[in-house]
Amino acid sequence: MCGIIGIASNKSVSSNIIQSLKKLEYRGYDSAGIATIKDGFIDEKKCTGRVDSLEKILFKNPSAGFLGIGHVRWATHGVPSQVNAHPHSSEEVSVVHNGIIENSSELKKDLEKKGYKFKSQTDTEVITFLLTDLLKNFDLIKAVNKTLEKLNGSFALGIIFKKYKDIVVGARRGSPLAVGYGPDENYLGSDSYALKSMTNKITYLDDGDVCLLTQNKIEFYNSNNKKVNKEILTLSNDKNTADKGTYKDFMSKEINEQSQTAKNCINEYIDHLRKDINLYNFPIKPQEIKKIILIGCGTAYHSCLTAKYWFEEFSNIPVETDVASEFRYRKIKFSNKNLYIFVSQSGETADTFAALDMCKKNNVKTCSIVNTVESSIARLSDFVLPIHAGPEIGVASTKAFTGQLLVLFILAIKISQIRKEINENTYIKKIDKLKKLPDLIKKTLKCQDEVQIIAKDFLSTKGAIFLGRGLSFPIALEGALKLKELSYLHAEGYPAGEMKHGPLALIEEGLPVVILAPNDRYFEKTISNMQEVIARGGKVILISNKNNNIISENIRFTLEVPQTDDYLMPFLMTIPLQLLAYYVASLKNHDVDKPRNLAKSVTVE
Ligand code: F6R
Repeated sequence: MCGIIGIASNKSVSSNIIQSLKKLEYRGYDSAGIATIKDGFIDEKKCTGRVDSLEKILFKNPSAGFLGIGHVRWATHGVPSQVNAHPHSSEEVSVVHNGIIENSSELKKDLEKKGYKFKSQTDTEVITFLLTDLLKNFDLIKAVNKTLEKLNGSFALGIIFKKYKDIVVGARRGSPLAVGYGPDENYLGSDSYALKSMTNKITYLDDGDVCLLTQNKIEFYNSNNKKVNKEILTLSNDKNTADKGTYKDFMSKEINEQSQTAKNCINEYIDHLRKDINLYNFPIKPQEIKKIILIGCGTAYHSCLTAKYWFEEFSNIPVETDVASEFRYRKIKFSNKNLYIFVSQSGETADTFAALDMCKKNNVKTCSIVNTVESSIARLSDFVLPIHAGPEIGVASTKAFTGQLLVLFILAIKISQIRKEINENTYIKKIDKLKKLPDLIKKTLKCQDEVQIIAKDFLSTKGAIFLGRGLSFPIALEGALKLKELSYLHAEGYPAGEMKHGPLALIEEGLPVVILAPNDRYFEKTISNMQEVIARGGKVILISNKNNNIISENIRFTLEVPQTDDYLMPFLMTIPLQLLAYYVASLKNHDVDKPRNLAKSVTVE
């Protein structure tokens, strides 16, 4: 999704803007641009494709200037093209934008009547001309705030001005934005990760904030044009740096480090001496929770679906799950006896944030499970449970998924123990089993050679189906999601028991069907569903921990995963599915870290 950088300095800024834009590449984008103030004028350069292409343009034709803004664009209004790339500039101002302006068509008509000529099809250009217009009659902060008043939708903005040539302005409503404090220069950025190589002193903007950066100061204003003070945070030094190491790409690194990230997470939450889980200051007494509502998007939603089974199994608490983009627009009956849990790797997903915001406005208790502890979702929720997975750069979520599952499992057993719905003995046994999980993940990762062979079968297919029951059903959904986003194949995840109600019609000779059949209480039933698939010509890939040379000679491949408690099988079932998607995409020469059309941090709805 779009990313913003701004720098006000006492030296040329273009090379630092380019380096910081490269840090935002993980978000997914289709074009890039930069604007600086050079000899008193706005100097704008932009292109389609990668930041590398922009860098080449700058190499041939440098942008001098001690102050500037940069942008990576993920197209919403208007195709990816040079003219639609940001910044969007007039003679007077240059603007970069992350978000969507919902009333841009009306605003555009008014501005055209005033004689402004639009070059692009973007919603952003209206901001450029609105501001240009208002600057004729108002001072800087008033003109910015009056512009923002006219905008419906969500935005984070970076703006530079011909007239105010030492100032970068930032503004936020709905989309994330941070400022960073450096020696002799100051920064604006979509996230702290982009600024981390330059500073660890950060302030996050809240909705409605406007900030004004010069080389040696940063000021904040509210929507009434009054100065406000904001807290400066010192970012932690993350040992787990965003570096590929010896891996070919981030995705393979992130899949392979799951044993370690699981260990880190377990060590953060489990008190090994007392055999207990450290969870203090919980926002609601577990004994008083009447219902749990789990909310997320995409892969994070699949972790919510998995956790529903755990909470229902271990506790007597009714559980609902919801996709954030649906939850936020429904007529919800809120109750302060319920616990609303938000799951998000980035902590910046616009729909999840909006759903959380709705809960906050209804005064109910919220908890977030995030990877990015400085994120907007973490900051807004009453209670934060980090997953401690380290930066996840590959667009497809892998280690963050297993991290989310871990924290949800830990939460489910702790809440159930406090409520006395599982006894001490069961509780301690579950903790003991959990401690063995990192080693089991490591063992499961050894299936890579087998999965590479299986992946070849997916090169000649139009699509694939993933089936599971119970805890394996959400994992089937996750396997299908991973395959579709990376390989661009049509993939469906289904509860195996639903096949006869329609999807069985899809089975034809040679269609790959991945069957998740752990040796749990659903095993026999899933195997019956598998036989129905085989009888209709489906090419079955069976993933199971039942090791006695299973059942049918017509299975194309059987992949064996290690034994563990039934409740922990989702962790081990997930690994081969992540690898499958990875290898199919690699065989198709896709960019596994940046699949087409997708963004890592979905900051627009
Ligand atoms: C899929 C994937 C997405 C994200 C979703 C939510 O591999 O990564 O489906 O899970 O966009 O993102 P977060 O977790 O950042 O809220």
